[in-house]
Amino acid sequence: MHVLHLSLADFRSYARVEVPLDPGVTAFVGPNGQGKTNLVEAVGYLATLGSHRVSSDAPLVRMGADRAIVRAAVVQGERQQLVELELNPGKANRARINRSSQVRPRDVLGIVRTVLFAPEDLALVKGDPGERRRFLDELITARSPRMAGVRADYDRVLKQRNTLLKTAALARRHGGRQMDLSTLDVWDQHLARAGAELLAQRLDLIAALRPLADKAYEQLAPGGGPLGLEYRGSAGEAMAAASNREELYGVLLTALGEARKNEIERGVTLVGPHRDDLLLKLGQLPAKGYASHGESWSYALALRLASYELLRTEGNEPVLVLDDVFAELDARRRERLAELVAPGEQVLVTAAVDDDVPGVLVGARYAVSGGLVEKVER
Ligand SMILES: Nc1ncnc2c1ncn2[C@@H]1O[C@H](COP(=O)(O)OP(=O)(O)OP(=O)(O)O)[C@@H](O)[C@H]1O
Ligand SMILES: [Mg+2]
Repeated sequence: MHVLHLSLADFRSYARVEVPLDPGVTAFVGPNGQGKTNLVEAVGYLATLGSHRVSSDAPLVRMGADRAIVRAAVVQGERQQLVELELNPGKANRARINRSSQVRPRDVLGIVRTVLFAPEDLALVKGDPGERRRFLDELITARSPRMAGVRADYDRVLKQRNTLLKTAALARRHGGRQMDLSTLDVWDQHLARAGAELLAQRLDLIAALRPLADKAYEQLAPGGGPLGLEYRGSAGEAMAAASNREELYGVLLTALGEARKNEIERGVTLVGPHRDDLLLKLGQLPAKGYASHGESWSYALALRLASYELLRTEGNEPVLVLDDVFAELDARRRERLAELVAPGEQVLVTAAVDDDVPGVLVGARYAVSGGLVEKVER
């Protein structure tokens, strides 16, 4: 798929901007702080309903405005669709497809698909488990948009279960009346049900990603691998033996039962996909804490390239977004990465100066400066 037109209102630094786009490569070039990343961040938002830079919507709305609009005309094969999101921080966001009446924001997932490379990706390797969980969950949602509903269900159940546990913990500490814990059994089942579905998808994804990540790393840093991607589940060893959703449900339920005493003491849910991690190994060692800066970068790039390869081979080719990544790489990896992404159906690149856009990425160029996005005729 590719984006034919991007239109923003009160998004980040833009009061209004209209950007016509073509398939192939488009580079946005301009000095620091002029709004290059803001443009591609908006494309990424349509694909994930989130920003790669911030965890809440508030910073995405232009200072002084109370809502932002991101709209895109999207081409997928023969079909063209118009998607629109209205960001209302503190209130529910709204969405439309083809100007028709309102749909839920998550109904637009799957129309725009992106794989986004950015300096923030280093946190995939060096950061907290939450970064890796987000990586996995965004990708399972890109593969299967209905997973957005499962993720929402899981988060809702988790929140309610935590509230219950907190109440139980307080009652215990203050010697109050003991709570009837049979309600907790019901929440355990709900949590295990949604959790097992999420787990099954994550495990399936990791299995599919493994060979692709290895191949990408070999292309970026020949002889540097192999990579090891291992899921670290809070439900313990038993998970390794579970081969389907039903078995994972059983494993989660058992683990919740075993953790219950501890959970009531601590007042928080200790088992489930929200506590899991993806262990990234380089050779025999964990990348986090051991890999060099350059190795960590190559690792993060390999994970993104693998994501691209996976989505592409599964049908709908995503838009590749490369936000400021070339300036961060040495000459060899810069060339390798550029060669690997160049054939993409649509590639959006941001760079502070022309020289940071590798030669193989020939295509359209926009100058971004002072709130204007202007095509450079060459
Ligand atoms: N909500 C907002 N309202 C108004 N301006 C904003 C908002 N959010 C960000 N900005 C402004 O947008 C600018 C940053 O834009 P952006 O991150 O796209 O820059 P860039 O061109 O990618 O720069 P660099 O080359 O440094 O990456 C900053 O000047 C910032 O103040
Ligand atoms: Mg930027």
